[in-house]
Amino acid sequence: MTSLVADPRLIVPLDQPGPEEARALVAALGDRVCFYKVGLELFARGGMALAQELKDQGKQIFLDWKLHDIGATVERAAAALSDSGCDLLTVHAEPQVMAAAVRGVGRSSLKVLAVTVLTSLSDEDLKDIGYASGARSLVERRIHQALAAGCAGVVASPQEAELARSIGGKDFLVVTPGVRPDWAAKNDQVRAATPAEALRAGASHLVCGRPISAANDPEEAALKVIAEMASVPAPSGAA
Ligand code: C5P
Repeated sequence: MTSLVADPRLIVPLDQPGPEEARALVAALGDRVCFYKVGLELFARGGMALAQELKDQGKQIFLDWKLHDIGATVERAAAALSDSGCDLLTVHAEPQVMAAAVRGVGRSSLKVLAVTVLTSLSDEDLKDIGYASGARSLVERRIHQALAAGCAGVVASPQEAELARSIGGKDFLVVTPGVRPDWAAKNDQVRAATPAEALRAGASHLVCGRPISAANDPEEAALKVIAEMASVPAPSGAA
């Protein structure tokens, strides 16, 4: 097992309270993990500097900033982030927002991912906000809109991965959180899937956090996840 190398389909979120704890996790995982997600918790605590530092170490970086503003602002923010050399950036899946972000990143290495419907929102919540449709049909509509706006892919729960893959086609990125190996605690992920299940459903990338970061031996846990992922090879042409 120790000969396994990093699987670029595995993204580990740096959901630590600060950059020092995040650096410690990255150091513990060493060469086993090559892709990290930096989210809003670290945004106010040097998240961009940390992202840059990890890029300089050769890691791939997913900036989970979930941008949502008027088009002009999103375009300028995405353009500013495109200089960072980072790899993935999330925006909310409204057509104007997605199109502006795609214009902003231009031909840089930064790819835009759309967050279709936050998984914390129930059908009842959506009705309360004013949407006529439930979550599933809104997700489907927004996957089509993400594709039309030129987004590279979407963030989807494992339950929506198959739908996103079938609409988006083989090169569409389908990034799924809510991944739990059989041996790990579910924590607050209620509709979790195993790494193999998520990949078989069509995920191109898995976001897997606490099963690795909260393990007594994070490197060993990452190796177990990578070994399970190796049982489902990446389709040819996958990013
Ligand atoms: O520790 P765990 O594997 O649950 O971490 C999942 C990561 O994916 C967290 O950073 C969380 O914010 C993010 N996420 C999620 N569910 C979504 C979207 C993002 O858990 N629907």
